[in-house]
Amino acid sequence: MTTAAPAVSLTDLAAYETAVDQALAASAAYYGDGDTTLDDAAYDALARGIAAYEREHPQHTRSDSPTGKVGGGAAPVGDVAHTVPMLSLDNVFDAEGLQKWGASLSRRIDGPVTGGYAVEPKLDGAAVAARYRNGLLVQLVGRGDGTHGEDLSHAIGTIVGLPVQLPEPVTVEIRGEVLLTTAQFVKANEIRVAHKAKMFSNPRNGTAGTLRAKDRPYVIETTFFAYGAVGLDGVAFLAGPTHEAVMAQVAGLGVQTTSSTEVGLKVCATLAEVQSRVEEVQRLRPELPFGIDGVVIKANDFAEQNAAGFATRHPHWATAYKLAAVEAQTQLLAVEWNVGRTGIIAPRAVLKPVEVDGSVVTYATLHNPAFIRDSGLKINDTVMVWKAGDVIPRIEAPVTALRTGAEIDIVFPESCPKCGGEIDKSGERWECAGGVNGSCGMLPSLKYAVGRDQLHIDGLGVTYLEALVEAGYVNDVGDLFFLTREQLAEATGSTKRADSLLAELDKARERPLNRVFCALGIVRTGRTLSREIARHFCSMSKIQAADAAALAEVNKLPGANAPKIAAHIYTMGPVIEKLANAGVNMTEPVADASSAGSKPLAGEVVVVTGGMHGPLEGRNRNQMNELIENAGGKTSGSVSKKTTILVAGEGAGSKLAKAQELGTKVLSEQEFADLLAKHLS
Ligand code: IVH
Repeated sequence: MTTAAPAVSLTDLAAYETAVDQALAASAAYYGDGDTTLDDAAYDALARGIAAYEREHPQHTRSDSPTGKVGGGAAPVGDVAHTVPMLSLDNVFDAEGLQKWGASLSRRIDGPVTGGYAVEPKLDGAAVAARYRNGLLVQLVGRGDGTHGEDLSHAIGTIVGLPVQLPEPVTVEIRGEVLLTTAQFVKANEIRVAHKAKMFSNPRNGTAGTLRAKDRPYVIETTFFAYGAVGLDGVAFLAGPTHEAVMAQVAGLGVQTTSSTEVGLKVCATLAEVQSRVEEVQRLRPELPFGIDGVVIKANDFAEQNAAGFATRHPHWATAYKLAAVEAQTQLLAVEWNVGRTGIIAPRAVLKPVEVDGSVVTYATLHNPAFIRDSGLKINDTVMVWKAGDVIPRIEAPVTALRTGAEIDIVFPESCPKCGGEIDKSGERWECAGGVNGSCGMLPSLKYAVGRDQLHIDGLGVTYLEALVEAGYVNDVGDLFFLTREQLAEATGSTKRADSLLAELDKARERPLNRVFCALGIVRTGRTLSREIARHFCSMSKIQAADAAALAEVNKLPGANAPKIAAHIYTMGPVIEKLANAGVNMTEPVADASSAGSKPLAGEVVVVTGGMHGPLEGRNRNQMNELIENAGGKTSGSVSKKTTILVAGEGAGSKLAKAQELGTKVLSEQEFADLLAKHLS
């Protein structure tokens, strides 16, 4: 299920020498400033090529070869001796590899595994041993070369999940992974920028850099997840006979384990169960708030672990099932500046196409001009593309170690790339000074207004809109409703089309307030928020009368956005008046409280996933949400403990898995349609 890049094929001594040099440079850079010159997959393929060459030509093996050394020999070693060696894990890449590992494990323990397999995420950070003496966290040690590690005690107190004081006076060494969650990573880069420090190119590099740094004028918070514990100072800590029991004991001390996540430890009885858990973790991966690069499988029973024993660098009783890389290196080819419907001028990276986790990535967001300036990105830079907890590909800082001199500065637009007008650079995001009400944003905002989820004026495509704007008949959405049959015929080239558009416009006059409001294209609002605002205020005049504070009361409305929304609603006053004069509906149908209880979805929190078929055929997410809310339900985009119903359509994936895991009620499209029968007509 994963794609391990084939080993780099090294055919002669010269190729071998170059490969060793490249690998050494890559790990030196990684352990130097936390930046990598090769992505994970490329490093792996190179290391495997080197190892293969050395097996064929042992006489050529260089003494500084990275083969067989923790961290490719470049990991900072330090001088703290490990109580028990901190080992690596061997890898498997697919179901067959897992079976082979399982078979060799049974051979070693002289029979089938009876204590089950503990399956947990392989966290993508840095290994750390946390020493507690009498309940107090006294020392942090990095993995180093496995026998000695660096003292990282300066980071005590900055790691979430690793309390400084335990509730009991225990002496124990807890081992685990320190990482930056996606949110911590974003925060870390903001802090770095504020302190004029280089941005981290991805969370793993950021963790390495952060843990090592001493005497920084700022603190970057990281997160710890435990995956093991060993005795310390000859004090035996572990009462339990299994890995699972020990992890429960660790969690009981208030140290974070993966059990607090959706992909936490699960004991599987068979390898087939392990395989399906791996697949489940793979499905859940895009929604995790931190990065994982595989799944670790361990014999759960300590007696079986002891019987299996160790190889030089890794235990026989555990293996890492690697998942496809979610990061890859590529090149920044260009930067595009696109003007959105509200006049925001957004920079977008054009990348040399690269495959990341099963899809080809060609574009990534660059957020805003300040981000470009702060990251120091240049055209032709090598960048690390990675998929974070969401599916939107991101790029961060350039890999400066790979600069060739061919990099060129990114040119910022002097004027609006669309209308040539002035740019308002006062905010973090640049906007066309014409904005929503100016000529630049006009066509995109009209297109948005007539869209399926807003006024839904069928047949009024962008070509006709352009013609209407061109002819001077339309300047805003309100004008649409005053178009004459002649004007429409002129713009569309047919009286028949004009007639059907007039009929469509009549239908649009009856849309509920939430759609009319949404059609205004108010900044920082979309379909969901428009529905919430409409439902909250019930009429356009009440929305207009609301100040920022009143708006901020609407469910989920981020406080900082409220003043912007209020200001924009105010400037749209004349357009709203035009719409009202044209007979467009300005109210939201609301259920009166007495009937709310009788609605079929009263009290339910519903999430929809997958494509809709059968009686719900063709309904997009917004239309489904509208339907649910009309039936008295609440909607949400993601499954959580609060979710009461998941409607699973075709191709349902991770949300379905999560609902099943949480025991949430899952309905097919048909079952859901039956429930809503009355509301569907
Ligand atoms: S167990 C002897 N469990 O992966 C067992 N390691 O390649 C060694 N890692 O150095 C560790 N998640 O930094 C274990 N759930 C997990 C892990 C995990 C991440 C890291 C750890 C280790 C490396 C081995």
